[in-house]
Amino acid sequence: MSTDLSEIARLAADSVPTTDGRHCADALEDLDRHGLAAIVRVVRTALHYNTTQTEDEIAERLRVAPRHRWLLRRWLRELTARGLLEVTPDDGYGILRDPPAPVRRELREVCAELGFSPQLARFFAQSADRLPLLLRDRVLAQELLFPDGDFLTAEAAYRTNPVNGYLNVAVREFVSRAVRELAADHAPVRILELGAGVGGTTADIVAALAHDPVDYHFTDLSNFFLAAARDRFTDYPWMRYGILDLNRDLPDQPPCDIVLAANVLHNAQNSGELLTALHELLNPGGYLIFVESCREHCQLLVSMHFLMSARPGGTQPGQHDVRAGTDRIFLHENEWLTELTAAGLTPLPTLPPADHPLAAHGQRLFVARKADRTRPGGR
Ligand SMILES: C[S@@+](CC[C@H](N)C(=O)[O-])C[C@H]1O[C@@H](n2cnc3c(N)ncnc32)[C@H](O)[C@@H]1O
Repeated sequence: MSTDLSEIARLAADSVPTTDGRHCADALEDLDRHGLAAIVRVVRTALHYNTTQTEDEIAERLRVAPRHRWLLRRWLRELTARGLLEVTPDDGYGILRDPPAPVRRELREVCAELGFSPQLARFFAQSADRLPLLLRDRVLAQELLFPDGDFLTAEAAYRTNPVNGYLNVAVREFVSRAVRELAADHAPVRILELGAGVGGTTADIVAALAHDPVDYHFTDLSNFFLAAARDRFTDYPWMRYGILDLNRDLPDQPPCDIVLAANVLHNAQNSGELLTALHELLNPGGYLIFVESCREHCQLLVSMHFLMSARPGGTQPGQHDVRAGTDRIFLHENEWLTELTAAGLTPLPTLPPADHPLAAHGQRLFVARKADRTRPGGR
C-alpha cells in the first residue's frame, strides 16, 4: 500500500480547490488572532487595575465551572507564552495586552477565506460571544454545535471544508485499497470505526465500500449519534451500530482488520495505552487509519475545546500521557508517530505532505500497519 501513497495524495489534492499556501497560513493566523482577542476580552474582566491576580482569583471572578478550569489554565498559558500576559514570580497575572489586530476584521471573512461554511463561522462567533456563559456551564458547546439537534454545523467542521474534504478522500482511498487487499485473504473484512459521531468521514467511506465484503461497526459514546446513523445509512445492510468508549471497552471487542477514527483518538486518557490496545485488537496485517489535528488553534480554545471538558468525576484526555501537565488536547505529529512505533505499529508518511497548502491547518492522516508475521517476509 505504501506505493499508493503518492497516488492517494494526488487524488486527495485534486478533490479540493487549489489554495495558495501563504494565503492559507495568513488566514489561519487571523483565525488565531480572533480567538486570542476573545480570550483577552474575557480575562480582562477578571483583572484589577494595578494589582496581580492568581489563577484561582481569576477563576473565581469569572465563575468558571470546575470542569472547565483546565481551559482557563490553558488560556493563561497561551497568553503568557505569546507575551500578551505578564506573570510575576509568585504566579500573579498582571498586565494584559491585546493581540495584533487581524487583517480580516470579521470572523466570517476569515472563515470564507479558509473555505469554512457560514454555519461554522456562526458557531465560532456565537461561542466567542457566549464565552462567559460557556465558562460557567450556563451554555453548553453542544447546544451551539447542534442547534435544534441539527448536524449541519458539525458537518461543516468535520466534512464540508477543504481540509476535511482532502482528508476524507485520502481516508476513503486508503480504506478501499486496504479492504480489497485484505479481502483477497478472508471475508468479510471487519472494520471498526471509533467515535463516528455525525458520520462526517463514514459517509464517504461506506459509499465507496458499497459492493465490497465488509462488516462495518459504527460506534460512538452516545446514542444520539447511533440513532441518526441508523436512519442515514439504511442503504448499507452490513453496517452495525454500538456504544463504545475507547478508554474502556476495547479489550472486550472481537479482533478486526481495520480501525478507523476521525478526530477522535485525542480523547484518550493515555494515548500510548490506547495505541497498544488497538495493536492488540488488530489482526496481523491490519490497519489503523486515523485523522488528528496536530496544531492547537486559538479559535478552538474558545469553541470546540469546551466539548473536551470531562463530566464531573470523569478524567480529562491526556492526563496520563505525553500531554500530562500541559492541558493540551492535541498531540504533535511526531508524538503520534513515536507512540505508534512504540505500540508496535508501522506508520506510513502522513498526509497532506508538508509542502501542500492545506498542511498549514495541522490536520493529518495517519496510517499504520500491524506486522503480519504469519506470511513469509510479512511486515
Ligand atoms: C470531533 S467528533 C468527530 C466525529 C466524527 N468522527 C467525524 O469526523 O465526523 C468526536 C467524536 O468522538 C466521540 N468520543 C468522544 N470521546 C470518546 C470516547 N472516549 N470513546 C469513543 N468516542 C468518543 C464523540 O462522541 C464525537 O462523536
